[in-house]
Amino acid sequence: MNYMKWMNQVRLGVSSSLATFSLLWCMGCSKPGVTPLQSNDSTLTFREVVENPHNALRFNKTELAGRLIFTGYCQVCHGPDGDGTGFNAFNLQNSFGVHPANFTDSAMMAALPEETMIMAISRGGKAVGKSQYMPPWGGTLSSGEVENVVAYIKALSKTKGVEESPKQE
Ligand code: HEC
Repeated sequence: MNYMKWMNQVRLGVSSSLATFSLLWCMGCSKPGVTPLQSNDSTLTFREVVENPHNALRFNKTELAGRLIFTGYCQVCHGPDGDGTGFNAFNLQNSFGVHPANFTDSAMMAALPEETMIMAISRGGKAVGKSQYMPPWGGTLSSGEVENVVAYIKALSKTKGVEESPKQE
């Protein structure tokens, strides 16, 4: 092997390892598992984030406290979204012909005074002339907890109002 041939071999070796090195280095640039921020996130306004029906941020502190109670005690009948379609709703419907109230119905909620809601929740449906299958929670929840859950179900009806308003055009 003469000197020139040897030099060519060296050059080839150097350039191919450089190519491999830069390829591997670039693969390291995009770390797998790290999702970059979606560029369009920054275009959302504060209002859009707060009013997004899928964003828990649209609830204030009191409502969020009520949401915890709602998830624990109420959603089985009233549904996870408060629209009256909980897991147990079909039993109540089939066996007793009653539907758990739909809190996303803003017209119904607007016609329901807060004191009536508090009474229905603490002493049961029967206490307000409604079905006995709305159980009394006064022995389980404190009056503060009842107020929180009322704030939450009222917020659900407001949300529905917000979602529906564009459709009314
Ligand atoms: C076992 C099922 C069940 C559970 C659990 C339940 N409810 Fe109800 N609720 C009902 C039914 C059924 C009605 C409808 C009664 C009627 O229209 O006669 C109702 C109605 C209501 C009403 C409307 C009362 C009115 O005057 O119209 C409110 C408010 C209410 N529920 C709140 C709650 C809250 C808050 C919880 C959780 C702490 C809860 N409910 C848990 C079944 C349930």
